[in-house]
Amino acid sequence: MDIKAKILITGGAGFMGRWTAKNLLDKGHKVWILDNLSNGFEKNVEEFKDKLEELVIGDIKDRKLVSNLFKNNFDICIHFAAAIDVQESIDNPEKCFNDNCLGTFNILEECRRHNVKMVFASSALVYKKIEPGQKIAEGHSLNPSCPYTASKINGEDIIMSYFKTYNLPVVILRPFSIYGPYQRSDSEGGVMSIFINKKLKGEPLEVFGDGKQGRDFFYIEDCAEFIVKACFNDKAIGEIFNAGSGIELKIKDLAEKIADNKVEVKFIKHHHPHAEIMNMCADSSKAENILGWKPIINLEQGINKTTQWLKSQ
Ligand SMILES: NC(=O)c1ccc[n+]([C@@H]2O[C@H](COP(=O)([O-])OP(=O)(O)OC[C@H]3O[C@@H](n4cnc5c(N)ncnc54)[C@H](O)[C@@H]3O)[C@@H](O)[C@H]2O)c1
Repeated sequence: MDIKAKILITGGAGFMGRWTAKNLLDKGHKVWILDNLSNGFEKNVEEFKDKLEELVIGDIKDRKLVSNLFKNNFDICIHFAAAIDVQESIDNPEKCFNDNCLGTFNILEECRRHNVKMVFASSALVYKKIEPGQKIAEGHSLNPSCPYTASKINGEDIIMSYFKTYNLPVVILRPFSIYGPYQRSDSEGGVMSIFINKKLKGEPLEVFGDGKQGRDFFYIEDCAEFIVKACFNDKAIGEIFNAGSGIELKIKDLAEKIADNKVEVKFIKHHHPHAEIMNMCADSSKAENILGWKPIINLEQGINKTTQWLKSQ
């Protein structure tokens, strides 16, 4: 791949998108962003806006707009744009399937027409439950436990079908729980940012259910590096990769760590217990072996970086 690749990032004004754009721009690539700002913000890209080729405010479901945008002869499309809220997918499955299935299909079709490599952000939530102490590798069974995970499995399937049918270069990524600066810290955000923000405001941390659900957290800049490595490694084509720290942390332990006895930890009723996954721990050895990737920021460092950023907001 040319040192200055032309890359479209859908959902590039969101949390993962903005960090991936920054990583690529720092490496000298040319980056376009398409985002409808439904959950992203222009201020997320303010730091490097002048280095972007273009920030297009628009929807992945807008076929005309997407078709025009692809006239830019991209080398790679990194597809992040999606409705990401699990509860919202349960309350409004139509929106979820329109954005995540139809929207993904629109982007994929343009990739096929222009022979653009498609790198897809799926999710570790697609996996069937595991026993405590087990790690999840890419061959683990899948389970559409809610409309959101079903939409991600569907996205993976249609993308893989284009690899098999049309030989389109594709890569599928299943990141575990990412956290860090620019993740939303209001009720729509990630648990890490929500907890740190509440702690900074002196408010109690609210844990869903008994808090024994475990997650594998890893820091956003490690995730951006994982995504970029997957984009530029020919051995990644047609493959699926997990990414995580390989360490499972119970949400109640995370809450207690962040609360640090300075604010209360409250246990509240879970909104969607049936869609909850109790154990999540990544086996990322495939990414390590093929992409030469592993996370380098530990939990303490990541929490500190996130806290500093939230304090500055
Ligand atoms: N954050 C995580 O821990 C995590 C883990 C695994 C997978 N993912 C996946 O990675 C991707 C990015 O996640 P994120 O945390 O950065 O979410 P995010 O909501 O911050 O980013 C998604 C972006 O897509 C935009 N968007 C949504 N629908 C759109 C549409 N129809 N047209 C154009 N833009 C649209 C939003 O405005 C937002 O900026 C998502 O596909 C998500 O499912 C996230």
